[in-house]
Amino acid sequence: MKKVDVLLGLQWGDEGKGKIVDVLTPKYNVIARFQGGPNAGHTLEFEGIKHVLHTIPSGIFRKNAVNVVGNGVVIDPIIFKREISALDNLNVDVSATLKISKKAHLILPTHRLLDAASEAAKGNSKIGSTLKGIGPTYMDKTGRNGLRVGDFLTDKFKEKYNFLKEKHQQMLAQFGAEGVSAEMEAEWFESMETLKRFELIDSEQYINKRLVDGEPILAEGAQGSLLDIDFGSYPFVTSSNTVCAGACTGLGVAPNRIGNVIGIFKAYCTRVGSGPFPTELFDDAGEKLCDIGHEYGSTTGRRRRCGWLDLPALKYAIMINGVTELNMMKTDVLDTFDTIKVCTAYKVNGELTDQMPFDLTETVEPVYIEMKGWKTDLTGLANGDNLPIELQEYISFIEEATGVPISVVSVGPDREQTLFQDVTSVTA
Ligand code: GDP
Ligand code: IMO
Ligand code: MG
Repeated sequence: MKKVDVLLGLQWGDEGKGKIVDVLTPKYNVIARFQGGPNAGHTLEFEGIKHVLHTIPSGIFRKNAVNVVGNGVVIDPIIFKREISALDNLNVDVSATLKISKKAHLILPTHRLLDAASEAAKGNSKIGSTLKGIGPTYMDKTGRNGLRVGDFLTDKFKEKYNFLKEKHQQMLAQFGAEGVSAEMEAEWFESMETLKRFELIDSEQYINKRLVDGEPILAEGAQGSLLDIDFGSYPFVTSSNTVCAGACTGLGVAPNRIGNVIGIFKAYCTRVGSGPFPTELFDDAGEKLCDIGHEYGSTTGRRRRCGWLDLPALKYAIMINGVTELNMMKTDVLDTFDTIKVCTAYKVNGELTDQMPFDLTETVEPVYIEMKGWKTDLTGLANGDNLPIELQEYISFIEEATGVPISVVSVGPDREQTLFQDVTSVTA
């Protein structure tokens, strides 16, 4: 039987997952998103056009694969409808290639309002959420109050919706926030009709059947390991398990059916929203990373905080996920740097450690080594070209520190700007 390969982010999100899923899709028959929702913004670029996906898996532009939105995902029908309209406008017909789990939970307009009200109430200690209603929707899921896609096919849907809405309206009143308007609700119900255009499936059955049939499947993660609800920098995290285990629960795949785990990381670090970030830069180097890397959120447009690569955090994420191969993204962003720093350890209360502390606060002081920059434009490199020696050293240093091979070096946003190193990436 085949296994499910998993692709996920190892930092604080926006590592470039969307690009690599699109690049790898020709090797797979099914691409399945396993968690998160419209807080994600996955960008792909080809033929001069940039596409940003939020709910829909990033294999959607390739004709060979079916794309599944798994049970672990939360769906806002309004955003979903917008994504479908954008694809319709490009004449990308996804009616046969996009399937949605009946067990995926729905984001109601009141979930979005509650997200905003909760953030406003937190004041300075706000999470910096994307305000897409993610936290409140997962809270209703674990609180056993949620509304699922499959409920839409039953005659109890409106009743369940109203029950949940009323609960939310009371909570909003307690926050002193406005309740939902009739217009918002009308738009939401109208958008549900778009969702109904697609095949609503028991995705765990579908995926396991295709595994038995020996078909290659890739699970696509959202956010990053350091935003994981259990292992991220809590409470500045998202509300789902972004790590590899999330692919098991978010798709119904047994742990012994997980194959290769492809860990995506940037050659440096970024974070959007609040929370600790040990290697964050507040100097010219940070500005330069942000400017050259165009580090503005794909979902919210917010400026991303930038810093050097953090090896203790990367090693932690590799451990939790069982990463079998690494893909290094945005390597070209470092092209003009004379020197590049890498954090190899933390100083916590005067002690050196390469372990993640319980609380990643400002008491964590990063310890750096400095490496020579390659001062070469990488963006035009093709597969087979020699990499500058300083970049080879950067790669070897990371591979040795983590014990995991780097199978892809990404040198630009386009599909074509992807350099494959000598490692296999589909489970045999
Ligand atoms: P995701 O959420 O992990 O899919 O990542 P995002 O799409 O939010 O952010 C990654 C950004 O970097 C997008 O704008 C991509 O187009 C861009 N990108 C991806 N890979 C590269 C690369 O190797 N070099 C450069 N310069 N940009 C890249
Ligand atoms: P992709 O899939 C980067 C961050 C938010 C905030 C925290 C909680 O594109 O990598 P939420 O809306 O989930 O309650 O926000 O998580 N965040 C992301 N940061 N990339 C993402 O997704 C993110 N999704 C959520 O900025 O700090
Ligand atoms: Mg993103």
